[in-house]
Amino acid sequence: MVHGEGDGLPSLVIDRYDRWVVAQLLSAGLETCRPDILQAIETVLAPDGILLRHDVGVRRREGLPVEVELVAGSVPADVEIREGPIRYLAAPWTGQKTGAFLDQRDNRLAIAERMPIGGRGLDCFSYHGSFAIHLARRAGSVVALDVSGEALARGAENAARNGLANVAFQEADAFEELRAMERRRERFDVVVVDPPAFAKNKGAVPQALRGYKEINLRAIRVVGPGGWLLSASCSFHVPWALFLDVIAAAARDSGRRVTIAGHLGQPVDHPEIATIPETGYLKALLLRVD
Ligand SMILES: C[S@@+](CC[C@H](N)C(=O)[O-])C[C@H]1O[C@@H](n2cnc3c(N)ncnc32)[C@H](O)[C@@H]1O
Repeated sequence: MVHGEGDGLPSLVIDRYDRWVVAQLLSAGLETCRPDILQAIETVLAPDGILLRHDVGVRRREGLPVEVELVAGSVPADVEIREGPIRYLAAPWTGQKTGAFLDQRDNRLAIAERMPIGGRGLDCFSYHGSFAIHLARRAGSVVALDVSGEALARGAENAARNGLANVAFQEADAFEELRAMERRRERFDVVVVDPPAFAKNKGAVPQALRGYKEINLRAIRVVGPGGWLLSASCSFHVPWALFLDVIAAAARDSGRRVTIAGHLGQPVDHPEIATIPETGYLKALLLRVD
């Protein structure tokens, strides 16, 4: 419903999951307006419950308490999301962000279309498996990697919820596992690379760029000829131009021909304002690898 500066409301996030609202007030200034914001949510959305996911570090820097607070009604532990042909559970109380990565939903549908029937898929930073499950509807098999065993357990539940038994959820560091896969000469028809923001601040950008280059180089190497890579970066400190440079460097080092088939980004409910580059934080490239 509201995505910060993009909606003219800096530091406010309001996500609606079915009949429930999960919100974040991320600055001390905004906290002074808390009663008005909660009243507005009640008036406009009339939800069954409002949860404040205030367990984010940025609030500490604002001198605000870091906590999860139920401020109206009740909010369940899980809410089922329907995203195109698939369903998965968001976890408003405990999940990352406000319970799910809603900003990648169009990109999940876009990459799923590239999966050949019966092909092999790899989802490198899978969280609760949402890309993997989209791929698995058409694939013969999909490998979903994440360092969080808890997220993968939810991924397995989500796969079962869709009647899919062809996803292998594997707890692993994506950097190391991609290297091992390359050594084993494994190849995939579709690979997804959706890492956490490597650059949490401006100072971290050079190291982040090295990380993005390395993960993309390793990912390109395990894509079979004529296959697809969806590569994303959600660091708003890494603008499109730098991200494109990184992809070019990885493509060059791989020795493969990599074609940019689409510049994807964030969905319409995460508006990008022309004069505020930080509002366009999510970059995703649809790449064909020959
Ligand atoms: C941006 S989220 C992925 C969101 C997911 N693709 C989706 O659409 O719901 C990044 C994920 O990467 C995982 N992660 C962080 N470092 C990792 C690593 N070195 N190897 C594998 N997974 C990692 C985190 O646990 C987190 O679930």
